[in-house]
Amino acid sequence: MKIAILPGDGIGPEIVAQAVKVLNVLGEKFELESAPVGGAGYAAHGHPLPEATLALAKAADAVLFGAVGDYQYDKLERSLRPEQAILGLRKQLGLFANLRPAILYPELAGASTLKPEVVSGLDILIIRELTGDIYFGQPRGVRECPDGPFKGQREGFDTMRYAEGEIRRIAPVGFQAAQTRGRRLTSVDKANVLETFQFWKDIVTHVHQEYPDVALEHMYVDNAAMQLVRAPKKFDVIVTGNMFGDILSDAAAMLTGSIGMLPSASLDANNKGLYEPSHGSAPDIAGKGIANPLATILSAAMMLRFTFGRAEQADRIENAVKRVLSQGLRTADIHEAGTTKVGTEAMGDAVVKALA
Ligand code: IPM
Ligand code: MG
Repeated sequence: MKIAILPGDGIGPEIVAQAVKVLNVLGEKFELESAPVGGAGYAAHGHPLPEATLALAKAADAVLFGAVGDYQYDKLERSLRPEQAILGLRKQLGLFANLRPAILYPELAGASTLKPEVVSGLDILIIRELTGDIYFGQPRGVRECPDGPFKGQREGFDTMRYAEGEIRRIAPVGFQAAQTRGRRLTSVDKANVLETFQFWKDIVTHVHQEYPDVALEHMYVDNAAMQLVRAPKKFDVIVTGNMFGDILSDAAAMLTGSIGMLPSASLDANNKGLYEPSHGSAPDIAGKGIANPLATILSAAMMLRFTFGRAEQADRIENAVKRVLSQGLRTADIHEAGTTKVGTEAMGDAVVKALA
């Protein structure tokens, strides 16, 4: 069980350290090796995804990723910016299936900006296609506008595209996840406007024939955004493309009021995966020891479940997290009156203790 540890920037190193602490007390034989990525990769080797880091990630069975991005790298040209590290890893490792659960822990119901009755008990799973769509479509760039009223001016352009095979491999991930849950899948598209997503809808409908036990519903992305804040509990599993999934998963994360709690998994066809918290590098609080490590710890649990097939160990970690929440321990982002505010390390230590 070889794990590449890529802490990255901002709060990345602090939160990843807590997850590593948890992995180390499980009594399993993990082989852990760290490498710089993102701004840290640029600082060390002049590239956000240094060759040695990519090689380590390729050789490992799983990657534990912190977060990338820091103000000091904002002015670099696009190809050298920290975000390129995560985009490069997704593409190079073929991590096409991104699982983003949004779960509201009952102890944190007060943290949501929505009314408690709208979100209490929320448990939805967004599956975002991660290596296609307008994120990676070619051609793209800035060119001379070839036609229309702005002909001859400079224009920026990107290309939205999905190959049949790409849709045929992500759709089953949605159907199969629904089979293990509430047997309902919502495929989110924009078929009323975009050719790419009419095609998406047609292929998903076709794949549905193999999963008659799952109820499939199609929803336009604008309506899905509205339903997510109106009645989020009506969803079970959502499957969608890269761009829509990026946007909807941030909205879904905020329903829970605590983006610091949400893990994610990005999987290839063989369940090799990259596991990272759903939140970013939060450079404003980096190094202060106040970041919430639970999303990263829960990402390690997803790693045990999906890549290593150790469901019991994943359950152990998830139960330990529930236990520390019920003990009233909170990092600053989820702290409310009547609970005990703790720092990053103390939270990690509490999870380790709850595991024992
Ligand atoms: C995410 C992030 C990334 C994305 C950025 C950092 C490139 O927003 O993982 O959702 O857009 O996919
Ligand atoms: Mg995003």
